[in-house]
Parts: sequence; C-alpha cells; structure tokens
Amino acid sequence: AVGFTVPILSRQDQTGKLLPSQIPLPRPFQVPLPVPPMLAPGRHPDFPGADFFEIRQLVTRQEILPGVPTEIWGYNGTFPGPTLTSRSGVRTVVRHHNNLNVPTVTHLHGGHTPPGSDGFPTDLLYPQTHPGLPMNAMPGMATMGKPDPQAHTTTGKRDYHYPMTQRAATLWYHDHRMNFTAQSVYRGLAGFHLVHDAEEARIPLPDADRDIPLMIADRSFAADGSLLYPALDPTTLTTPGTTDPYMGGVLGDVILVNGAPWPVLDVAAVRYRFRLLNASNARRYQLTLSPPPADGTAFIQIGSDGGLLANPVHHTTIDIAPAERFDVVIDFSRYTTGQEITLTNQLGSETTARVMRFRVARREADGSNVPDQLSTMEHIPVSQAQQTRSFSFQNHDRRTWTINSKEFDPTHPIATPRLDATEIWRFTTDLHHSIHLHLVQFQVIARNGKPPGAYDAGWKDTIDLKPAEEAAIIARFTDYPGRYVMHCHNLEHEDMAMMTTFTVT
Ligand code: C2O
Ligand code: CU
Repeated sequence: AVGFTVPILSRQDQTGKLLPSQIPLPRPFQVPLPVPPMLAPGRHPDFPGADFFEIRQLVTRQEILPGVPTEIWGYNGTFPGPTLTSRSGVRTVVRHHNNLNVPTVTHLHGGHTPPGSDGFPTDLLYPQTHPGLPMNAMPGMATMGKPDPQAHTTTGKRDYHYPMTQRAATLWYHDHRMNFTAQSVYRGLAGFHLVHDAEEARIPLPDADRDIPLMIADRSFAADGSLLYPALDPTTLTTPGTTDPYMGGVLGDVILVNGAPWPVLDVAAVRYRFRLLNASNARRYQLTLSPPPADGTAFIQIGSDGGLLANPVHHTTIDIAPAERFDVVIDFSRYTTGQEITLTNQLGSETTARVMRFRVARREADGSNVPDQLSTMEHIPVSQAQQTRSFSFQNHDRRTWTINSKEFDPTHPIATPRLDATEIWRFTTDLHHSIHLHLVQFQVIARNGKPPGAYDAGWKDTIDLKPAEEAAIIARFTDYPGRYVMHCHNLEHEDMAMMTTFTVT
C-alpha cells in the first residue's frame, strides 16, 4: 500500500548485507556537495517574541543520482530539509503542514522539549486530505501496537514549540511516527536544526561558509530511480512469507552526503568545521581521511550531540552510529594545493567504503583557531543519583526487538523518573544498538566497567553499544513532566518495537 516495490531480500541481506541498487551507479566525487538551504526565522502574531518557521512536508522529485529524478518526501520538498537555526533561550515555533498521504510525527532530536511538542510516536499529524482516518486505516500504518488513548493527534498542520533553553548544539529533526519512522526518514524526512549561543560565538571557530553540516545517509535505488526499501508485511514487520525481520536493519549501497552521492567539495587550505551527522537508518561508519595528514590527526573533535566539549579531542578515526553527531575541525593547510582527500569509511566495502572527497583548490587567509579550552563542562556527580535503573536491549525470537523483554507500548512507562531527579541508567545489549533518550542530554560514566570510551566525551543524547557491551549514563530529568521515549536509533529496530516509554512525574 505504501508504494515501494521491493525485492525480497535473502537471509544474508537481512543480517546486515547490502540492499543492492538496480540502477547503474554514478562515478564517485562528481557531484558538488550541496549545502541544505538555511531558512530565515520569521515572526507570527500568535507567538510574540518567538522565532517562527513554517515547513511543508511534500512529495517531490529530486535529482539525487545525476540525471535521474527520484521521488522523495521532503520538508519543504527537499532532502535534507532546510537547516533551521535557533538562538539559545529564544523560543522557536515550527509550524508543520502535512501535505503527504500518510500521518507524520516530527521530533527535534537533541531538543530539550516539552512533551506535547516532542514528537511522541503516536502524536500523529494527519494530512489534510485524510482527516480523522483511524490510525490503522492509514496507508502504511502497521497494526502492531494498541490504540493509544493518550495520543494527541492533529490534522493538516501542527505547531511544535521549542523553548530552546539549551546550549549551542547540532540538533536535527526527523519523522518519528510509530512503526514507520524508518520508511519516512529513508524517503527523506530529515533536516538540521542548529542552536547558537554566546559562548560558542566567542570562540574563533571556522564559521560562515567554513561551517558546514554533513548529513551522511545510505540509500539504494530501484531501476526506475525510485528509492529501494524492503517491503515489510505491516502486520508482523517481517519479510512476507517468513518470520525473519530485517535483523541488522536496511543498508544501502549509495552513500549520500547532504542528499548527493559521494559528493566533492572544493576547499581552501584552511580550517573547516564540519557537523557530522549519521542520519542512516542502520549503517555505522568509521570515518577517516585518505591520505591521512602528516601529523596523524584527521579530525579535531570540538563537539558532540549536546554541543561543545570542554576541550578538543584528537582522532585519527571517528566511529559514528545512527543519530550521533560529531562536530569536528579539519585543517586543510596540512595538504598541498590541488591535493584530493577522501573521507573514507573503514567499515564499508566497495561503494560504501568512501563517503565524499575534498579538493584543496586554493590558499586563503585563516583567522580561525581551536582553543584548548572550548567550554566548561560540569560533571554530574555520581553521588547525586537518586535512582539506578537497568535496561537490556535484546532480540526477541527473531521477530521483534525488545527493551527489558518488552515491545514498545506507548501507554505503559517502563521508568518513571521524578521531575528534577538525577538518575543512572545502565544498558546491556545483545547486538549492536545505538540508544537514544528524548528530553535529556546525558553523560557517559562507564563503558564495560571502564571509563568512557574515545567517542563518549561531552553531552550525549545517543550512545552506541557494540555487541555484548555495557555502559552507564547519568542524566537529570529537568523541566518537563510528561511522557517521552527511549529507543534504538537503528530505525528498523525502532520500528520493530525496540522503544520504550518513560514518564517524568
Ligand atoms: Cu532521532 Cu527518538 O529520535
Ligand atoms: Cu538496535
């Protein structure tokens, strides 16, 4: 019913092999890197003092592969959607119009947002063309999950209110509809939302056209140029005729950056700031530069999911799991003019082993700098924790994915932190899962019984757990009582029920 035609995958594919495109793929490093359009905030008389944005969710066609139109679902009709910017402390209202033929839910990932605007997976925004249809009658709406009497649904348009009482950070917004997030995001419903503040503005980091968000996402394409996605039986979320779900999630063979396949960017021989976002449904990357710079430091990490680090961290490679952000500086003055540097993925093979290319086109003056002290970070003392909770992330019967043996149930919270409580949450996992909490930014306090790992620094909203790993995080559940979710950000796992409700009381 959803209009994706797709071959049935082999068992091997289901455990995390490529979904091969059925169209000849373009040569890499031919398409210039697109930068998503910035939307300027406006005013609205109903929301005095707020920055106001208006977005239409549209079906459009976009030339992703050169010369080939691909139908996408886009915020304002583009993939990625427009980049929104907010100022810390200045209320932002985003009005979304749903002009698609399915309900949607918009979540600001990393936002410290009241529950009514957070994009709870059953708080549907129905399209104007299908007002009031019951949830299960909507095209593509899986029947898994019971009706949710607490759901707050709207039709046509919906205003999302973001107080933005949070520090500068690279946030992103994407669809979050229950059982359907993977398919909506795969079709294009994802964009950046940047928050700026005075602390960040005081630091001479690369800015303006040297501050570039990079949304990395894999996709596959059918012979007619449409996006290829496995057809799932909506009643069981399994491959028709089998009981096997897409165990590892869906992996494409084309790597897109900002919606372009293996793009190329001409750079000056200066420092650039790149806000790396892994917006892939299920793919992890281990990014590095080839050739590596002489001093070995490919990336200077300056920020994480929740904004600036206290001090920069040097990396030769960066492991980035779905939904994570790494804010990095690359200094191209260490390369010669004319040199080509490839951003590669050491976890990929063949087409997925490369991401994009930089071409050092010219020399220019560079007034930027990365100071040793970027920010101050308060470490939440473990002694402040009033409660410790444990969550295990596991496959169930090769049919669904569970948290503490339970499939997602919007109406039954698995945890009820008290307002303003500080809590430690411990995670254990069977396989690879990237775990995301709404509402809070947390700190990783332990990984496998040791101190946090190389990629755990700073404020995080998503933590990647490798098979059989365990980790502990600490968070404060401040400001907004109400219900939120925690889930795996492998979007196929999320849609296969690896999500749980927590209610701040
Ligand atoms: Cu990026 Cu619950 O989402
Ligand atoms: Cu998972």
